Amino acid sequence: MAQAMKDAQLHLRHVAERQRTTEAALAAANFDGLVLQSGAPFTYFVDDQDAPLRTTPHFAHWCPLEGPFHLLYIRPGAKPRLVRVAPEDYWYEQAPLGEPFWAGSFEVIEAPDVNQAWDRLGVSRHAAYIGDQPDSAEAHGILRDALNPESLVKRLDWERATKSEWEIACLEDAEAKAARGHHAAREAFMAGGSELDIHHAYTRGVGCVDRELPYETIVCLDEKGAILHYCGKRAGVSGKVLLIDAGARTHGYCSDITRTWTNSKADPRFAALVADMDKLQLELVERVKPGMPYLDLHHGAHLLLGDLLHRHGLVKLAGAEAVDAGLTTPFFPHGLGHFLGIQVHDVGGRQKNPEGGVVPPPRQYPYLRTTRTIEEGHVFTIEPGLYFIEMLLRPFRSGAKAGLFDWKLIDQLAGHGGIRIEDNILVTRSGGRNLTRPRI
Ligand code: GLY
Ligand code: MN
Ligand code: MN
Repeated sequence: MAQAMKDAQLHLRHVAERQRTTEAALAAANFDGLVLQSGAPFTYFVDDQDAPLRTTPHFAHWCPLEGPFHLLYIRPGAKPRLVRVAPEDYWYEQAPLGEPFWAGSFEVIEAPDVNQAWDRLGVSRHAAYIGDQPDSAEAHGILRDALNPESLVKRLDWERATKSEWEIACLEDAEAKAARGHHAAREAFMAGGSELDIHHAYTRGVGCVDRELPYETIVCLDEKGAILHYCGKRAGVSGKVLLIDAGARTHGYCSDITRTWTNSKADPRFAALVADMDKLQLELVERVKPGMPYLDLHHGAHLLLGDLLHRHGLVKLAGAEAVDAGLTTPFFPHGLGHFLGIQVHDVGGRQKNPEGGVVPPPRQYPYLRTTRTIEEGHVFTIEPGLYFIEMLLRPFRSGAKAGLFDWKLIDQLAGHGGIRIEDNILVTRSGGRNLTRPRI
């Protein structure tokens, strides 16, 4: 009960803050209200089955209610009105709403279907709509120019990067759940489990089914660690290295955590690389400061990796020389991290300002998702990697730079796949608070 009261208070404050920032965004974009819709199910082609519903992030930002078609109407100076679509149905469970902790944040009304939900919403002619059913919104009186209007969406995207106390509480809980999964997964690996066993141990540890995860678990034994988003789940094969990238969700908010573990069958030279990558990752977390461009962190990661690769004998140049010669990118071909929140790859990472615009990553780092300056309240991942990806190494095996690599060592370690260590970081007034490490 005490927890529900605390959640209710945090959620009320969160909604009050959303109300304040949304009123400002509506005024700037010339609308007098905003309708958010929770989303419609996606039905597979020529089938009668739906994909698991992912709530529209804009709706989830306000309200943890799950399920399709709900409408939320935000107007200046009024309590947000939620129309919950609650059909009578005997095929799927339609549990009563009960008294969720967040109910006090809204004026809650129920409707048996989406058409009656619109009728009960009582929407103004000059309201905007954000959701995946713009045709239906237009049929219910929203003007065409007000359907997912970019100027408004951009302002809301920008603002979503800064997390409220409520959101941080949700993110912390998602960390705690994922940590339980990661501990169970590591135990399964150490006991000789297969990728399938490790995946099952993970979801059992979190206490969820697969569709509740924020993304499919990436469970890689040995060479599969070099496939960044490997989603196989091999049964009957055990390994010497586990790279597991897996998260959890609380009230829509995600964690996104990667660990790389070795057992006694791993080459000690690879285990030493893992230990050093762990130090490198912690060094990067230490550097987090408000006012710093995320790109500086990313570039710093390449410099540190250049030193690390050199120290371990994989390349013949260190630091800036290695980076300038392009020796680090085949080993670390993705961005250092991304914003995290309702979406695993949360919005606004490359946005220039609240009005919109894009800050593209430099040509050298095309996959970097975060070019924005770090600010207090931002939450993002820091996930450096070191992989043996033959497709990326192959071009260096011949030509002018071939002599800058120790190919024998690379080939001896390639069967270990790769290393990624990923924590979730909250930017505070003075630095970064690691949400993951205290738990794993
Ligand atoms: N789990 C996907 C990522 O780390 O970005
Ligand atoms: Mn990530
Ligand atoms: Mn990840």
